[in-house]
Amino acid sequence: MKKYVALLAVSLMAIVVMGLLATDINAKEGERVAMTNPGLNLEHPSVNSEWSKKFPRQYGSWKKTSESIELEDMLKKWPALAIVWAGYPFSKDYNAPRGHYYAVVDNTNTLRVAAPEINPADPDSPLPAACWTCKSPDVVRLMEDKGDLNYYTGKWNKWGTEVTSPIGCYDCHDKTDASLKMGRKYVNDGLKAAKLPEFKDSTHQVKRDLVCAQCHSEYYFHPTPNGEKTAMAVVFPWKNGLEPEGMLKYYDDPENFPNKQPFADFKNSISGVPIIKAQHPDYELHTTGIHGKKGVSCADCHMPYTQEGATKFSDHQIQSPLKTMDRSCMTCHREDQDKLKAILKEKYDRKETLFKFAVNNLATAHLEMQKARELGATDAELASAVKLIRNGQWRWDYAVASHGGFYHAPDETLFILSKANQDAQAARVELRAVLAKKGAADFQAPDFSTKEKAQAISFAATKWPSYEKLAADKKKFKDEVVPKWLETAKANGLLDPERPKDDRGAWFGHSK
Ligand code: HEC
Ligand code: HEC
Ligand code: HEC
Ligand code: HEC
Repeated sequence: MKKYVALLAVSLMAIVVMGLLATDINAKEGERVAMTNPGLNLEHPSVNSEWSKKFPRQYGSWKKTSESIELEDMLKKWPALAIVWAGYPFSKDYNAPRGHYYAVVDNTNTLRVAAPEINPADPDSPLPAACWTCKSPDVVRLMEDKGDLNYYTGKWNKWGTEVTSPIGCYDCHDKTDASLKMGRKYVNDGLKAAKLPEFKDSTHQVKRDLVCAQCHSEYYFHPTPNGEKTAMAVVFPWKNGLEPEGMLKYYDDPENFPNKQPFADFKNSISGVPIIKAQHPDYELHTTGIHGKKGVSCADCHMPYTQEGATKFSDHQIQSPLKTMDRSCMTCHREDQDKLKAILKEKYDRKETLFKFAVNNLATAHLEMQKARELGATDAELASAVKLIRNGQWRWDYAVASHGGFYHAPDETLFILSKANQDAQAARVELRAVLAKKGAADFQAPDFSTKEKAQAISFAATKWPSYEKLAADKKKFKDEVVPKWLETAKANGLLDPERPKDDRGAWFGHSK
């Protein structure tokens, strides 16, 4: 009798479990059907919370990118950055990346975009509209509605009332069936220039990289005529390949630019050297690393599959994979997690050491060139050192602007960094000879060992107001201009009710 009771209990349990499974399978099927059939019918696909009804798991995990809240002040960590970027907005303010959820508030908060509409003499941001490009699904909407060139024309504050949702669903998914999609055409243009297959002709695994490549790639703003005006359009410099040497060749070739000059993002205000600012080439570096070469995609590590009941879905909490090693790494690797972590730590420490050598030598070279110019050195005397600093700074920045580069492609990162340091040292050898010739053999570059000291040097050379003045203007801008922008967005139905609250306190507190 006992046997029958036990059997009955087991059968009942099995029925319950099967019922649960069926519910989960149905839920999963629901998602699959929604994905393969048109009919999402979202009124405002750029509003992330509109996607939550059909895709609660993806939405819920996406929202957790808010948990990566910490801001790391990179100018504090590496004061030399304020010297090598003197004259460029990055020398005002630069933090390491954090969760996607903060992309729009961080962009609004940074001193780089300044405080438009606050000073009557200076009503516009110094930066172009294109600075929103990798921050929001509203950009995909604007590119569709206004056309790319109109989106790119004008200054950053032009779209203050339009760009409010942080990086979300519509950045990576089609609005009718939620299949993977890139709303930004410039990626296809870059792929074509590099003679690589476009998005639609790429394998599914490569598509799982390319959605990230929309933003995690090196780019520059190409001046492009738009009627009477000039649009500053995002272009990937991939014509000569996806390696830093090919890109440098591209930037050095006057034929690639309307003014028939080699490209520069800015002139360093201390040394006068025309500089190319590298911007997070995560995608390009990843393709040169062992995981990229073996076909492991960004999503494999940063969006690992997760099981919830019988439902398997992609974890949309994009973050450091070191927090999810069981799902991100152990699917392929069998060794101990701590052992893998120790291997990564060693790579990281080596990168940090070479970073320090290269950036300190570059910063010192800029200051030595400034002194040489003060003492009357001519452009001809300095030409070779100018070229060495330009090349070295490009290589150094390329290797480190991608915060995960040391991990995605450790050999490549260390190789580029050592070339950068070689360039910087060669420039310094030449500059020391010029200084000796001008009677300043014992010149010592001024101390730039703290953020305050380094910014004092670079702000003076650039003739910028003080940091305190910039921060005070910013506060006014946040109090007076931003609330009006958000009100307008709300009236237009474009403001996500679940949008992150502004965390201005975190920003204003982190620095001086
Ligand atoms: C629309 C542009 C955009 C897309 C698409 C995008 N990112 Fe990002 N990503 C950013 C920006 C901007 C930040 C920095 C946000 C901040 O600091 O406010 C960032 C930050 C990150 C971070 C740091 C997160 C943290 O917690 O520190 C990681 C990791 C990352 N992205 C990986 C990816 C991966 C993987 C993909 C593709 C699946 C991807 N991103 C797609 C723009 C984008
Ligand atoms: C940075 C790019 C990116 C963003 C932002 C993003 N996704 Fe995804 N999503 C992906 C990738 C990559 C996959 C994996 C697709 C595959 O391999 O087929 C995926 C998969 C999915 C799937 C298929 C089922 C699954 O879980 O694998 C759904 C549904 C989905 N996402 C919905 C959303 C929703 C809803 C949002 C907004 C809350 C969102 N995604 C935001 C890149 C993104
Ligand atoms: C094999 C796994 C793996 C792949 C594939 C991978 N990453 Fe990473 N990524 C990592 C690890 C590990 C880190 C280091 C995280 C840390 O320092 O905590 C990282 C760091 C990053 C960071 C810096 C995060 C930060 O906060 O500093 C970004 C951005 C990033 N990856 C984007 C990408 C993109 C985009 C791709 C695809 C082009 C990609 N990753 C492919 C494992 C991977
Ligand atoms: C889809 C499979 C896959 C995933 C996921 C994966 N790896 Fe790998 N990993 C590989 C392959 C393949 C190699 C190349 C080694 C080989 O072929 O034996 C490799 C190599 C490595 C190496 C040695 C090469 C180097 O770059 O120094 C390290 C370290 C490593 N992986 C760490 C990680 C970590 C940490 C994660 C998770 C964040 C991860 N891997 C995720 C497949 C994977």
